[in-house]
Amino acid sequence: MTPKSFYRRIEGELAELKKASMLRVVPNLDNGAAKELLFNGQKLLNLASNDYLGLAMDESLARAAAEAVRKYGCGAAASRLVTGNFQIYDDLERELAAFKEQEDCMLFTSGYTANLAIMDSFAGRRTVVFSDKLNHASILDGIRMSGARQVRYRHNDLAHLKKRMEAAKDAHERLLITDTIFSMDGDLAYLEEVADLCDFYDTMLVIDEAHAEGVFGSGKGIAFERGVADRVDLHMGAFSKGFGSLGGAVSGRKELISYLRNKGRSFVFTTALPPAAIGASLAALRLVAEDPSRGQRLLAMSLDLKEYLESLGFDCGNSESQIIPVILGDNKTALAARDRLIEEGIYAAAIRPPTVPEGTARLRLSLRADLTGDDLQKIKSAFGVLKAEFG
Ligand SMILES: Cc1ncc(COP(=O)(O)O)c(C=O)c1O
Repeated sequence: MTPKSFYRRIEGELAELKKASMLRVVPNLDNGAAKELLFNGQKLLNLASNDYLGLAMDESLARAAAEAVRKYGCGAAASRLVTGNFQIYDDLERELAAFKEQEDCMLFTSGYTANLAIMDSFAGRRTVVFSDKLNHASILDGIRMSGARQVRYRHNDLAHLKKRMEAAKDAHERLLITDTIFSMDGDLAYLEEVADLCDFYDTMLVIDEAHAEGVFGSGKGIAFERGVADRVDLHMGAFSKGFGSLGGAVSGRKELISYLRNKGRSFVFTTALPPAAIGASLAALRLVAEDPSRGQRLLAMSLDLKEYLESLGFDCGNSESQIIPVILGDNKTALAARDRLIEEGIYAAAIRPPTVPEGTARLRLSLRADLTGDDLQKIKSAFGVLKAEFG
């Protein structure tokens, strides 16, 4: 029986969340990775998943996943260091390292656990970690776990970062970690300038390319698009978004990856990825490496839609990617706008605090490469309706 003291606190907190329109519930969805999902039984255009290239339902990925299951089984049955390994695991690491032009690469069960392992392994009590204020939660959790001193800088504010780096220039060790695409805003880190500051202040540079892989830099990420890949110490990425599968990955020099393999608790103490995910990831990587045009098409489409939304007067922040926020302000407006889009046949996520700062609740549109001209027209018309009704 739950003790009464806990029960009272929990009930109170749930009631408060509900009152502030912040109570999270799993939506009544089916087929959430498809271009058209089912919401309460209604077919809606899916602008809420991270399947940016439309690969999660791709036939070649499904075939590769099924073959891997038949050959290796449904589960990995142990952690990678015990018996949870199969040939395609090694193939995927080798091919991803080559794709990212790095000496070595290692896989994790998710992007989340990859970030935990990076921070837990490389940062400790004597490390100062510089972290953009809008970095993903997995990075913050990893820094907390590591016991390092966290120094957050204002989002994409290079002058503020420089000031903070200057103040910590006598620290024993310095590490900077940044998303390359910020997941709720769709804007990009100033990687060249960040790399310059890291060189100047002798700071290890780690980047999270979870939302950029498959899309930018011929699928390799923003560091490649911007020509700074060789100035980055660790390239973190994920198969769960553009690649339509599951798993996190970290690539870099072989000593760094070997260290990670030895120190990363979220690698050592968990069961390895299932064969199906590895099979699908390998197929996705090969598709993107052979033909990066899906990402290019997606970016052209995203720019067109963002310009259209801005012409209607919507605030899309500084988005420069396939993630387009439509910032509406308060939670109730964001939820009402989401519901209105549903009536127009479109499903977009309403993002509220604490995921985004107070007063910046928004719709988060994540575009996908398999949208047709008709789909885009439908999205534009729906926002025309929203504009008329929500001002
Ligand atoms: C920037 C960033 N890093 C890491 C992750 C975690 O990746 P995964 O979903 O594979 O655990 C996410 C997921 O939302 C993310 O947005």
